[in-house]
This record gives sequence, C-alpha cells and structure tokens, in this order.
Amino acid sequence: MKKRVLVTGGAGYIGSHTTVELIEAGYDVVIVDNLSNSELRAIDGIKQILGVDIPFVEADCCDKVAMTKLFNDYKFDAVIHFAAYKAVGESMALPLEYYQNNIGSLITLLEVMRDSKVNNLVFSSSCTVYGQADVLPVTEMTPRKDATSPYGNTKQMCEDILNFSTAAYPSIHGIALRYFNPTGAHPTALIGELPKGVPNNLVPFITQTAAGVREQLSVFGNDYNTPDGSNLRDYIDVIDLAKAHVIAVTRLVEGKGKANYEVFNIGTGRAVSVLELVETFQRVNDVKVNYKIVGRREGDIEAVWADTTYANNELGWSAKRTIDETMAAAWAWEKNVRGIK
Ligand code: UFG
Repeated sequence: MKKRVLVTGGAGYIGSHTTVELIEAGYDVVIVDNLSNSELRAIDGIKQILGVDIPFVEADCCDKVAMTKLFNDYKFDAVIHFAAYKAVGESMALPLEYYQNNIGSLITLLEVMRDSKVNNLVFSSSCTVYGQADVLPVTEMTPRKDATSPYGNTKQMCEDILNFSTAAYPSIHGIALRYFNPTGAHPTALIGELPKGVPNNLVPFITQTAAGVREQLSVFGNDYNTPDGSNLRDYIDVIDLAKAHVIAVTRLVEGKGKANYEVFNIGTGRAVSVLELVETFQRVNDVKVNYKIVGRREGDIEAVWADTTYANNELGWSAKRTIDETMAAAWAWEKNVRGIK
C-alpha cells in the first residue's frame, strides 16, 4: 500500500516541487492550499510533469472545520506543512496577520493530527531562526538569536510549538528543516517560483530583470565585511530541497528518527555573494542583468551559510546541483513564464 502525504501549501514554490519528488518516490499526495500566494498554474504544472492528477483541496489550514473534514476524507501517513506567509518586509507591516496565519495554521494542524492520530509532521523552518550568527557556518546547535522580524519570530515559535507538542504527545514525531536560500526551478521549466507583484527575493528579481520585466536590479550594499563586500548566502536548489523532504518523510514513516523532534540544516554548505550570483547567472545564461549597487537593505544580515554535516550523515542527503545548473533552471523557468524563446 502506498503511503499518503498531505502537502499544505502544495501549490506554492517549494510545495509544488516537493509534490513532484514525493510522487516520483512512490508516495500518494493530497495538496491543500488556499491560493493566497500561489496559483492553479502550479497544480497544472505538476500534472503535466507527472502525467497524473493530484487531489487538490482549496482550503485554509487555519480553518479547523475544513481541516477536520480533510482528515476524515483521507487517511494520511504524514504531513508536510509549507503553507505560511513568508515575506520578511511585509511581516513588519502586518505582524498580526503573520502570527495569526503562521502560528494558527500549525496549531490547527497539530490539533487535527492529534485527534485523527496522524503522527508524522515535516515543518518548513528557515535559517532565519539563527539571525546573524557569531560563528559561521551555522550548525543545528548554533544558538538562535532574537528574531528581527515577525516572520522570523513565527518560524522560531513554530519550532518551539513542535518541540513541546512532540514531547507532550509522544506519538507525534516532527522534523523541522531549516532551509537556507531556496532557488532554481524544475528542469522541465513547468513549475518554478511565481512571486506576486515585485519580487522581494534576489533570484526572481534577477530573472525578471533579465527578462525586461524590471528595469534594474539593486544590489543592496557592497561595504559588508565579506570578500567582495556584498552579502553571503547559501543558495540551495529547490530540487535538492524537495528531495530532502522526501527523505524526512520516509524517516518519519519508517520510524527511523533519533528523537521525537529533530532539526536539520538544508543548505549546500557553500557561501555565495550577491555579486557572484549575478555574475554566475549572466555567464551561464549568456544574458545581461542590468544592476547597480545601492545602500544596504534594512534588516539584512551580513552572512549566513550552512554546516550540513548533520543532514549529510543522519539523512544521507546532500545538495547535488551546482549553482550553474540552478541559475540555468531559474532562467529557463522565467523564459517559459514570459514566453521568451
Ligand atoms: N538582494 C539584493 N537585491 C534584491 C534582493 C535581494 O541585493 O533585490 C540581496 C539581499 O540583500 C541578500 C540576498 O540578496 O543579501 C538574498 O536576499 P533574499 O531577499 O533573496 O533572501 P534573504 O537571505 O534576505 O531572506 C531569505 C528569505 C527569507 C528567509 C531568509 C532566511 O527571503 O524568507 O532567507 O531563511 F527568512
């Protein structure tokens, strides 16, 4: 019998790629998404890649009645909870919406899981929980700093909720994956990142500038204490990231975890600067990105990248795709979205 996974936020960027990898690994998937920051286009893309229909339920994960019905309609072996608000800047202006949605959805999900005896949860966390660490790269033991945004705070609070809930309800097991900077797209270019409005994140801004949708990329600062003065990040390919979720689900379903609640860094272990990334994108795709260096963006941390030893050893997972492949995939997707040949 195939195991069935509920993917919340499955129409979103990471959720859609993870759905594809889960199906290819032999799982059944049901997607729940309220389409607040995603589009049905992603569901169509998943179907085109796989050649099969994926059950899709349009509902809000904070809606306990809808979630209870979903858990009555299907028997799930595991849940991956992607559905959340994710923009740092927006969270500064809309803190209550962020706390309500990101915390409310996790609590609702855990209540419904407890009541329906669904015991395995993979949670989307973020390297944002570390803030600017004193020692780099960060390991899972690196102390978390106070959050600098409501968004980051919701990720910390959700981790705490999982930690205490898995202790109180020992049949529930949880894995939090702390993603570094997810980027890239599926090699078919049928799914990818689809930000609404002006992108906040670097790679969609690069691809939209190359496509002529944005006039110019602003590089936020070249006076940091880094080799070229721009920020250092760990850009993890979305396919590698999706595969990490499949491994985490399998670990839970097979009862292979070392504790009720586990945390893993999911990154490449490579520090790449903003300027290096822009140059890589231009070289790999033979396309020009009009950019200028401007002042620092408020709230940006100077540098963060992952120590991935624990994920490598414990999960047997490592990032496989090169930054060149990732930048090529990001451009192929943008071209497909814009109808560029
Ligand atoms: N950057 C630019 N110009 C832009 C956009 C970004 O120079 O137009 C720079 C930023 O200053 C930063 C780097 O590109 O140095 C990456 O910025 P992103 O906004 O893409 O990503 P962040 O590292 O700031 O934040 C991301 C996610 C958050 C998450 C965080 C840590 O957006 O959701 O990683 O996990 F919390």
